[in-house]
Amino acid sequence: MSPNPFLKYSAENSIVLGDLGSLSSSFVPESFPHREGQIDAIVKVLSSIMRNTRPSNIILYGKTGTGKTSAANHVTRMLKEAAGDRVETLYFNCQIYDSPYSILVALANSIQDSTSGSVPQLGWPLDRIFQETMARLNRARRFFVLVLDEIDKIVTKNGGDSLYVLLKLIDESGESKLSLIGITNDTGFLEFLDSRVRSRLNQESIFFPPYNATELIDIISFRIKGVVRPGSVEDSAINLCAAIGAQEHGDARKALDLMRIAIDIAVREGKQKVTEKEVYKARDKLEMDVIKEAIYTLPLQSKIVMLSAVVTQEQDTAMMTTGQIYENYRNICEEIGYPALTSRRVSDLISELEDFGLLSAMTKSMGRYGRTRLIRVVGDHTVIKNHLLEDENLAHFKGSKIPKQSKFENLVEENRKISSLDDLFGAEPDKN
Ligand SMILES: Nc1ncnc2c1ncn2[C@@H]1O[C@H](COP(=O)(O)OP(=O)(O)OP(=O)(O)O)[C@@H](O)[C@H]1O
Ligand SMILES: [Mg+2]
Repeated sequence: MSPNPFLKYSAENSIVLGDLGSLSSSFVPESFPHREGQIDAIVKVLSSIMRNTRPSNIILYGKTGTGKTSAANHVTRMLKEAAGDRVETLYFNCQIYDSPYSILVALANSIQDSTSGSVPQLGWPLDRIFQETMARLNRARRFFVLVLDEIDKIVTKNGGDSLYVLLKLIDESGESKLSLIGITNDTGFLEFLDSRVRSRLNQESIFFPPYNATELIDIISFRIKGVVRPGSVEDSAINLCAAIGAQEHGDARKALDLMRIAIDIAVREGKQKVTEKEVYKARDKLEMDVIKEAIYTLPLQSKIVMLSAVVTQEQDTAMMTTGQIYENYRNICEEIGYPALTSRRVSDLISELEDFGLLSAMTKSMGRYGRTRLIRVVGDHTVIKNHLLEDENLAHFKGSKIPKQSKFENLVEENRKISSLDDLFGAEPDKN
């Protein structure tokens, strides 16, 4: 009998000892190297609870992967341990709880006492929810610390004064012991706030700077301790993860993800050690996964626009105008028998694709052509096209209506002043 193929994937390997899942973002470690200052600062503000005083509101800000969410969770967990029933800590991700209304409902429902039933998710007017939450807060004899992660999402969705209702709750409930920790990686967001909201929300602000490569080496080494056998991950592999993470705006999530995937690859391939080679493979995989995910979740119309961009780019142009993409978009719609949107709508969809990082655009002065937006596809065309064609609506796409040569002038060749793509893209990035 041939050996069971599953056996080679069993826990027996020369690298992993513990749970690789503990390197993922949802796991909150016991300590945070290089974040002692920030953690101390949050603890100091919240420590007023130990003296029976309401803490100031806090904003934690800094780029993605700099430890804001995990530091906040770590501190609130310690606070809960120390203060017990005197405090309730509640965490809301504002991607999900994206309005003050939904937060009030969840807050009210977390304070169910003998006199109150549950508040419905929908149906009550805002002022009724507000009064009910306030009444419950006043009856509850404890502090509430609300962590509002990605708080900028509430503001972009509901406007600059939308947080006012939460701050009003703090002001108006006489005995309220409610305070907020807002977290954001959009540092410009405070500017968007109504000034009344800004000053109250931002009573204390704590900055999380990007990690440098040396700090990331410490963080990775700390996080893999106990997870892998000592010596089974080469230093050069750790250094490479750290270097890539540092390049990506000092992102610990990226560095740790790379390490986790590199370890996984080494185990699957039956390697004795994790080396730089596995880290490079991990990086490719991570980048592919991001693109794949982004494409899979696009609505069909955006997929067609994206397909048009890829096809147009493959034709002859190093970069394209919106007009060229629109032309081929219509050709594709005609081929697959799908109604075409107006060019204005397609322009909007192109901007959305830029936001997703699938397209990139630059505005360039083109001499006698005036100023033109030039667009290019980011990443490997073939890979992107294959992902797009996995949509059943596009699976039969042949390109039968796409002209062989773009009938538009090739703007790059036209303008002899632009000698290389790098000149162009080294130029002036779009503001949007
Ligand atoms: N100093 C540190 N020590 C150990 N692990 C860390 C440290 N800083 C960050 N991490 C880990 O890096 C990952 C990303 O951190 P976190 O989710 O807190 O970032 P964030 O600042 O909230 O990012 P985003 O703005 O994208 O939400 C998590 O797995 C976290 O545990
Ligand atoms: Mg976060």
